[in-house]
Amino acid sequence: MQFDIITVLPELLESPLSHSIMQRAKDRGLLNVNLINLRDYGIGKHKQVDDYQYGGGAGMLMTVEPLDNCIEDLKSNKVYDEIIFLTPDGIPLTQTIANKLSLQKNILLICGHYKGIDQRIRDMHCTMEISIGDYVLSGGELAAAVLVDSIGRLIPGVLNDGTSALTDSFQDNLLAPPIYSRPAEYKGRKVPDVLLSGHDAKIEEWRLEQAQKKTNELRPDLNA
Ligand code: ADE
Repeated sequence: MQFDIITVLPELLESPLSHSIMQRAKDRGLLNVNLINLRDYGIGKHKQVDDYQYGGGAGMLMTVEPLDNCIEDLKSNKVYDEIIFLTPDGIPLTQTIANKLSLQKNILLICGHYKGIDQRIRDMHCTMEISIGDYVLSGGELAAAVLVDSIGRLIPGVLNDGTSALTDSFQDNLLAPPIYSRPAEYKGRKVPDVLLSGHDAKIEEWRLEQAQKKTNELRPDLNA
């Protein structure tokens, strides 16, 4: 799977996508991330990519021409399955969306900065607009890293244990149950007996009960 990411701050994305599972996915040839510096498409001597907004109001926005030139350039070499703008006014990212996007081959991500991007880019090029939560980040890069991570780990062969993505929180609209490792007792706190019983059916039943209890307490909206 290939992600192309348009950004004015490629350095911000390099580190989060170069460790652990994401790096393993790249090493195995299952994931490729290509960072495109929008500044290379900037206008004039100062390679300008931003300007004031028409109609007044605080804050600059990313202008239409550098972004359009960059996207057209990329599109001339490749057909994208999705072109996604990361923005707080997009649809909220969910596990269902990550699952669907993990089946795609080529995705282009656009990271905004300042107040955002000229609406015409959204109208002309974007097939999806995604928010990672109801708060405003200073740019789309961290949101893009979250999106790539959530999708990348679902690509078949990326996780060592093929079933482990299926037991994550949200895969079945439930939060994950509590988990424990050795020692069986620590500072007087014991691992629940059932997990030491070796009885698979009982363990599964306990995990489901715990997941349901936790979901009802913390995220009743997931069951709605
Ligand atoms: N850019 C700024 N804030 C964002 C958010 N919450 N989600 C996605 N992109 C963003």
